[in-house]
Amino acid sequence: MKALIYQGPGKRAWEDKPKPTLKDATDAIVKITRTTICGTDLHILKGDVPTVVEGRTLGHEGIGVIEEVGPAVSAFKKGDQVLISCITSCLKCDACKKGMYSHCQNGGWILGNLIDGTQAEYVRIPFAGTSLYAIPHGADQDALVMLSDILPTGFECGVLNGAVKPGDTVAIVGAGPIGLATLLTGQLYSPSELIMIDVDDNRLARAKEFGATQTINSKDGEAVARVMALTAGKGVDVAIEAVGVPATFELCQDIVTAGGHIANIGVHGKGVMLKLDKLWSQNVTITTRLVDTVTTPMLLKTLLAGKLQAKLLITHEFKLAELMKAYDTFGDAAKQKALKMIIRA
Ligand SMILES: NC(=O)c1ccc[n+]([C@@H]2O[C@H](COP(=O)([O-])OP(=O)(O)OC[C@H]3O[C@@H](n4cnc5c(N)ncnc54)[C@H](O)[C@@H]3O)[C@@H](O)[C@H]2O)c1
Ligand SMILES: [Zn+2]
Ligand SMILES: [Zn+2]
Repeated sequence: MKALIYQGPGKRAWEDKPKPTLKDATDAIVKITRTTICGTDLHILKGDVPTVVEGRTLGHEGIGVIEEVGPAVSAFKKGDQVLISCITSCLKCDACKKGMYSHCQNGGWILGNLIDGTQAEYVRIPFAGTSLYAIPHGADQDALVMLSDILPTGFECGVLNGAVKPGDTVAIVGAGPIGLATLLTGQLYSPSELIMIDVDDNRLARAKEFGATQTINSKDGEAVARVMALTAGKGVDVAIEAVGVPATFELCQDIVTAGGHIANIGVHGKGVMLKLDKLWSQNVTITTRLVDTVTTPMLLKTLLAGKLQAKLLITHEFKLAELMKAYDTFGDAAKQKALKMIIRA
């Protein structure tokens, strides 16, 4: 079969590789019908993720059809249509029992990282019974791919950890796919203001289409003053960081109101200054999280009921055999006005 293979920093190829086979009784082999590319895949390609070795098939998002199941998998059979979660969960270890699948001692984020991923014709899914989700035949597969990673990430790390409530003022810093997924799922809780902050005017314009009530281009360094002007000098109830650089986490600290929440989503490569001299008395809650995908069943029902416009996130379409081209486009996201690529087998 063909797969998108990491060949060391800066190098990738669409090449032949043996079709995966069942290794453990709890495995399933899934034939990929849809996949996509994540910003994390670009980080891997830069060599930023040392756990990914040369020869690894990339990808941790996708939809497919069950090809074969191990003897311990009772939830699925050949021909079933499934959503693949970016997080593998055994549901038996201490972390899984706490609902913290991201730290599953036998899984977690392994797809396209420690084991071969979904940007291929077939993928082996460990703990298939608890890491795959049944999807009805006839459901919109393109929209459902957004449930593998970005919708649960925005919802769990941003909206739930930020404790967004009806009437809240919310600022989301970063209007990439993750920030926009946070914007979509945040509206399930009816906040009064959703202020989107980015440095890219095109993405801010898209954010308006996704339901942002205000947008701020922070390039001029005036974002704090503008958020204060929009909130009668108080700041926001919830500040969500969806970029992953020190400047944006500091911005969140500057715009959160007393009693508010700062919910970090961004993956940080450097330490960030914590302004405790200002925040110690402000009753704020700061949270961090790696997506657990525990809300996937709920988001799946919400999406199938037409209450999450996940398709808005798709800007480009490719065939599986065009994955190399899809990477070129996604790697030049600002110029190509790219959010999510949909890649169909
Ligand atoms: N916590 C988790 O489990 C988890 C899961 C997936 C992704 N992430 C992380 O979420 C973050 C966002 O992911 P994405 O795919 O949307 O990334 P992205 O790179 O597509 O989007 C980031 C956005 O931030 C904007 N930006 C950059 N610098 C800025 C600045 N100084 N001020 C304001 N805006 C700025 C960019 O213009 C871009 O629109 C990344 O750090 C990613 O690694 C975290
Ligand atoms: Zn991802
Ligand atoms: Zn586990």
